[in-house]
Amino acid sequence: METKPKIIVTGGAGFIGSHTVVELLAAGYTPVIIDDFSNSKEWIIDRLCILTHSSIMYYNVDCKNYETMHEIFMGLGDISGIIHFAAYKSVSESVEFPIKYYDNNIGSLATMIRLAKDFNIPKFVFSSSCTVYGQAEQLPVTELTPMQKAESPYGYTKQVGEQLILDALQQGAVILRYFNPIGAHSSGLIGELPNGKPENLVPYITQTAIGKRAQLLVYGNDYNTPDGTCLRDYIHVVDLAKAHVKSLQYLDKNKDTNTFNVGTGRGNSVLEMVKTFEAISQLKLNYKIVNRRSGDIEQIYADTTKANIILNWKAEYGIKEALIDAWNWELNLQELKLSA
Ligand SMILES: NC(=O)c1ccc[n+]([C@@H]2O[C@H](COP(=O)([O-])OP(=O)(O)OC[C@H]3O[C@@H](n4cnc5c(N)ncnc54)[C@H](O)[C@@H]3O)[C@@H](O)[C@H]2O)c1
Repeated sequence: METKPKIIVTGGAGFIGSHTVVELLAAGYTPVIIDDFSNSKEWIIDRLCILTHSSIMYYNVDCKNYETMHEIFMGLGDISGIIHFAAYKSVSESVEFPIKYYDNNIGSLATMIRLAKDFNIPKFVFSSSCTVYGQAEQLPVTELTPMQKAESPYGYTKQVGEQLILDALQQGAVILRYFNPIGAHSSGLIGELPNGKPENLVPYITQTAIGKRAQLLVYGNDYNTPDGTCLRDYIHVVDLAKAHVKSLQYLDKNKDTNTFNVGTGRGNSVLEMVKTFEAISQLKLNYKIVNRRSGDIEQIYADTTKANIILNWKAEYGIKEALIDAWNWELNLQELKLSA
């Protein structure tokens, strides 16, 4: 019987990882989740099994722990690839606790690279971020746009992480620079679970709409953008998940290290997001415009030509579908009284 290629998915119970597990199964891979549930819930695994009609292998382990991970890899036998999502992602927390962020984000990546080399695993996909660009002078940003000084320790962990891959892993790696992932699976079974107060716009919008938050603050309407509010490239998490499958397929044929922007190529303003949400939910959102917030860049959106051509990947969804799915997810969470 033909065996399906095993893919280690660190952080596979998290927001982007869980959606990627669904796409991996659909594409004929066997994902193996490694997650310590520091920023996710174990019941997401049950949801994934229901959603995909599969039994999914997972280990509740900190992937920085080389000895334990080595044992797991020994037990699994042939491993085709690693997709490394596991990291802490709160920009503000990283400013308060930089060591925690460098330790986890760089420590886990170094361990996973070491394992990839020890076990001769030919494919490695790393979650980077458009934060590496800072406020670029020219938009849209291409992969050749120079990196800027990072605004936070979190941002630095992505810059250092990219460099670590370039320095240490010559056997086939894809670095994906995500823009702003939003949305949820259309089944309503998996989605984003912010830990406490959300740092990202969309969960803040849906939590305000459902009454978990009193009011959404819009930071600044005097930016040099069409409506004065900040502009971002919001990508549906399912589109983003599919880019990981395309990256593995790229590494079937290429043994180099390559970097790709993963966005839609469009910039949408904060107010556009609010108005689109109001239209799809038929609700009036309680929001207030306040002063600019330090650390926010004015606008960024991706040039995705490289991923379109080389990975043969293109975002299919827009903000409307993503906001419908995010709202559906929030409503389901409330119905089931599942807490984030
Ligand atoms: N969501 C975004 O806006 C965004 C944007 C750009 C890049 N990224 C990057 O994408 C990746 C995934 O992000 P996400 O939004 O899915 O985050 P998430 O917090 O939802 O998922 C990360 C998962 O990793 C797990 N984890 C953390 N440290 C671990 C460790 N040492 N060992 C095992 N598991 C560990 C957490 O429990 C969680 O399930 C991260 O590397 C993040 O920095 C996210």
